[in-house]
Amino acid sequence: MDQWINGPMHKINLSEKLSLIHDHWNPRVAGELNGQLIKLVKFEGPFTWHHHENEDEMFLVVKGRFRMDYRENGNERAEWIEPGEFIIVPRGLEHRPFAEEECEILLFEPASTLNTGNVEDEFTRKTLERI
Ligand code: NI
Repeated sequence: MDQWINGPMHKINLSEKLSLIHDHWNPRVAGELNGQLIKLVKFEGPFTWHHHENEDEMFLVVKGRFRMDYRENGNERAEWIEPGEFIIVPRGLEHRPFAEEECEILLFEPASTLNTGNVEDEFTRKTLERI
């Protein structure tokens, strides 16, 4: 990640970077600052229910929309996140993103954050490519 230690040398165009992504649920690293990563990812369909012990996660919708499902004390609730909107999911809270159609997302979270949190399954990506 050394190339970002002193900040970006060139501006990043989100649409341009996202156009290079042709799969789903596979985040790419587009920047790093203060131990946190800016990731770009495309969602489609349901993801895995999970939580993160130590990390809060930010999801910003660039294009499309997705629903974030939450489970807390046996209750479920859901919220649609639209383009230009973001949510922060606090650590410890069980969540699952779901997109009816392809959706383009910017994530901002600590470098230690694993996409499937406490769960390991076919969606888990331990090593992320830079984009
Ligand atoms: Ni998560």
